[in-house]
Amino acid sequence: MIRDVLPDDVVAVTFDELDLDDAAALAALYPVEAEQISGAVESRRVEFAAARACAREAMARLGLPAGPITRGGRGMPVWPAGVVGTLTHTAGLRAAALAPVDRVRSLGLDVEPHGPLSGGVLEAVSLPEEAAWVRAARGAERAVHWDRLLFTAKEATYKAWFPLTRRWLGFADAHITLTPTVVDGGSASGVLRSRILIDPHAVDGGPDLVEFRGRWAVRDGYVASAVVLRPAGGR
Ligand SMILES: CC(C)(COP(=O)(O)OP(=O)(O)OC[C@H]1O[C@@H](n2cnc3c(N)ncnc32)[C@H](O)[C@@H]1OP(=O)(O)O)[C@@H](O)C(=O)NCCC(=O)NCCS
Repeated sequence: MIRDVLPDDVVAVTFDELDLDDAAALAALYPVEAEQISGAVESRRVEFAAARACAREAMARLGLPAGPITRGGRGMPVWPAGVVGTLTHTAGLRAAALAPVDRVRSLGLDVEPHGPLSGGVLEAVSLPEEAAWVRAARGAERAVHWDRLLFTAKEATYKAWFPLTRRWLGFADAHITLTPTVVDGGSASGVLRSRILIDPHAVDGGPDLVEFRGRWAVRDGYVASAVVLRPAGGR
């Protein structure tokens, strides 16, 4: 389902595609990576390693040499020169999406189990107009957890935003518009837009980050959102 939310020129890899188990993924960490995660509980070290195994497979498919993917400021993954990427991990699914910098300026991918947000969370993570949209969408199709979908769209936006700005983006700092194109019971897919409501200045020398666009899907027990920002003049 990761592929469903990404364009063809983004390489996406999920851990179940790899001939690796958790122990092998952990053993394959570079010393600098292992050191960064050494204080974490095992489940956290495993997800960290599994997502990096996916990223290294994606780098190989892009013809890039393997190398460490460290944690930079505020948890941002630090990519080797020439590539941008994004990582996500949730119960039963670990994934990486990568693309060459001449094709993609920034990427954000977020996957979560397809279930409702806990009580009060929707109000905490949404603008009033977003929450109103979620309630209307729920009235039209109850089998889709639109609140969880909005949450993944927000987190995907943050993952693409932060590496270009090195600044926090709060849940009220972007207005997400979700447009369904297919709704079929508990499965659905569509497109998304994230309109940035704060200072959109980027530190990579590129244009201001006025808006991100992407796709989302609800399928097989998961909700996934991805945003893909093209370089100025790119397609
Ligand atoms: C960072 C955040 C988005 C991660 O999402 P999550 O659902 O908790 O976890 P996921 O498994 O999907 O993603 C984790 C990965 O995100 C990436 N990530 C973490 N911080 C990041 C940052 N500042 N910038 C970019 N990517 C980041 C990392 O690769 C991390 O995996 P790793 O630690 O193994 O390298 C989330 O914890 C968070 O802080 N959200 C608040 C900010 C936000 O969403 N604002 C909404 C703006 S509209």
